[in-house]
Amino acid sequence: MNLKKFIREIPDYPTKGISFKDITTLLKDKNAFQVVVDEISNYFKEKQITKVVSLESRGFIVGGAVAYCLHAGFVPARKKGKLPVETIHESYELEYGTDTIEMHLDALNEDDVVLIHDDLLATGGTALAALKLVRQMNVKQIYFSFICDLKFIENGNKEILSNYEMHSLVEY
Ligand code: PRP
Ligand code: MG
Repeated sequence: MNLKKFIREIPDYPTKGISFKDITTLLKDKNAFQVVVDEISNYFKEKQITKVVSLESRGFIVGGAVAYCLHAGFVPARKKGKLPVETIHESYELEYGTDTIEMHLDALNEDDVVLIHDDLLATGGTALAALKLVRQMNVKQIYFSFICDLKFIENGNKEILSNYEMHSLVEY
C-alpha cells in the first residue's frame, strides 16, 4: 500500500515555509490505519519490546495500538505539567517553537526493552528529548519508530539518533 498518498500535505502551515504532514487522513482510513499498525508491529515483533514510549499527542494514537499488538506496556511522554507524580523532563526545540516533555520517574526500569514511537521525525528535537529521558532510566535497549521521516532535514540531532535502530514507513 502506498501510505504516502493517505498523508495530506498542507503548504505554509502552521508557519510559512513549513509543509505540514497531516496524518488524520491516514488515520481515518480503516485499511491504511491497520497497515500502519501492523507493519510497525511486525517489524518489531522479534525484538522483545517490553514498553512502547509514545510522545504526546500525535504519537499516542498509533503508539497505543502498536503496544497492544506487541503485548507491551504503554508509557506516555507528556507535555509539561500533566503527570501527577515525580517526573523527569527535557526541553527541546521544535520545527516551530520550543516545548518540554515529561515522563514518570518510575515508568521504566533496567529490564525494559523500549520502542520510542512518534508520528513524525522532523528536526529530531522531540525524539532526542525522549531518548534523553529514556536513557536516564538505564533500560536494556532502545529502538525508534516513526510513521514519517523527513529525511531532507539533516542535523546533529539525527546524527545522535542514527546510533539506534530506527524504522519508518514514509520518507520525504
Ligand atoms: C510534532 C510531531 C512530532 C514532532 C516532530 O509534534 O507530532 O512529535 O512535532 O518534530 P521534530 O522532529 O522537529 O521534533 P508537535 O510538537 O507539533 O505536537 P503534537 O504531537 O501534540 O501535535
Ligand atoms: Mg508530536
